[in-house]
Amino acid sequence: MEFSIKSGAPQTGANGCLVVGVFEPRQLSAAAAGLDRAAQGFLGKVMRRGDMQGKPGTTLLLHEVPGAAARVLLVGLGREADFRDKQYREAIAAAIRALNATGAEEASLHLTELAVGKRDAAWRVAHAVAVAREGSYRFIRMKSKSENGGPALRRLALCVERPALKRAAAGLEHGLAVAHGMSLAKDLGNLPPNVCTPAYLAEQARELARRYRMKITVLERADMQRLGMHTLLSVAQGSAQPPKFIVLEHRGGPKKMKPVVIVGKGITFDTGGISLKPAAEMDEMKFDMCGAASVLGTLKAVGEMKLPINVVGVIPSTENMPGGRATRPGDIVKSLSGQTVEILNTDAEGRLILCDALTYVERFEPAAVIDIATLTGACVIALGHVATGLFANDEDLAREVARAGEASYDRVWHMPLWADYQDQLKSNFADFANIGGRPAGAVTAACFLARFAGKFKWAHLDIAGTAWKSGKEKGATGRPVPLLTEFLVNRARRK
Ligand code: BES
Ligand code: MN
Ligand code: ZN
Repeated sequence: MEFSIKSGAPQTGANGCLVVGVFEPRQLSAAAAGLDRAAQGFLGKVMRRGDMQGKPGTTLLLHEVPGAAARVLLVGLGREADFRDKQYREAIAAAIRALNATGAEEASLHLTELAVGKRDAAWRVAHAVAVAREGSYRFIRMKSKSENGGPALRRLALCVERPALKRAAAGLEHGLAVAHGMSLAKDLGNLPPNVCTPAYLAEQARELARRYRMKITVLERADMQRLGMHTLLSVAQGSAQPPKFIVLEHRGGPKKMKPVVIVGKGITFDTGGISLKPAAEMDEMKFDMCGAASVLGTLKAVGEMKLPINVVGVIPSTENMPGGRATRPGDIVKSLSGQTVEILNTDAEGRLILCDALTYVERFEPAAVIDIATLTGACVIALGHVATGLFANDEDLAREVARAGEASYDRVWHMPLWADYQDQLKSNFADFANIGGRPAGAVTAACFLARFAGKFKWAHLDIAGTAWKSGKEKGATGRPVPLLTEFLVNRARRK
């Protein structure tokens, strides 16, 4: 879909649609009122008939509105006093759903003119783009035949008041960069695990490096052996797919500027290993590389925006498979940090690949490190599918991440990382174990990682509940690309 910004009275092409809002009860927004005047009271008449009350989520498509357009879509906004971020985003989503059900090839969206609390035009446009793309995303690459064409909508004009044109253009650029990053993250997540292997992720990273002139390094198994990444290698040893350790560097800032490092869990399929998972829904463990996908998606957004800061993306990637060479429960391995780990459950593999990555990134002298991982089922139990779990060893960083989550509507909830929980990782045979029992499973997983993050400011995002949807709408969400991009844009602005 193509987006543009415009201002002025409602107007669209012959096969287009004008989209205007209606507040509850039966109260025309400014754009709708203008249209109503041009159509000599037509909209008012329709509303008095009771067909559109302005209830949130409702839409009404009108044809051949005299003096206005071939199509006008009325969108219910709810009460004006309650109209804020959430209502705004839901109204746009409802509009896109309705538009996609018509044959309209273009539309003029006047909802972006509405006042949304204190949000400026840049925010309104960026979020409209994000929501519109969200509602139009389809993953059809693996289907042999295209299904009845899909939506006709090709062009969406976002309307704003004239003085806001410049801010709106900035919002469009930001919104598109995030949308493209999210699409990449979704595509990678949705690809089947026989296609999206560690080697495939490495190839995708190479492609980004070419396109946005970034530096790329891919460590092979032998390199990892030489370095001593034995916890990562212990996960990889059961798989026929060679592991890859991917490092992608965007150097947009001054040379001496310390980079933000983002580390993404790249398990391209998680069977659990010898601690095998039950069969039901195991296919969803193809999404266990969504952390890695969010790193690549964010770097794409960063590359598109040419952000003037340094960002390093790091992806430890492997499958977790059972087999004659696979790690056994009880095995003890030495991490890159030198600390030894007793692997009591081979299904707690994410932390084993991330811990070596965390030690590896010390070499970048990071300003901050954020890791992103579909790490624990326990996090899904704690926070469901709404908030990502946030853990951090630095309060300021935690606040900064949480704020970026609020602003981008990609929210997190700050969880404890108190030393009291560390006791659960005690091992009689190694420095510590890789599991801490059932209580507070998301916290003990974060506690494990914290033991490898002592040398920098670090935040950990457990996206097990937010990276994909199950059931009828099964598919990757592209989260937390919006949060990470927002965080980096804010850093670039601050510097
Ligand atoms: N990838 C899973 C976490 C997961 C499970 C995410 C279900 C989303 C849905 C992770 O590798 C895992 O298996 N974690 C175990 C840890 C346990 C063995 C301590 C879990 O959560 O059960
Ligand atoms: Mn696992
Ligand atoms: Zn996993």
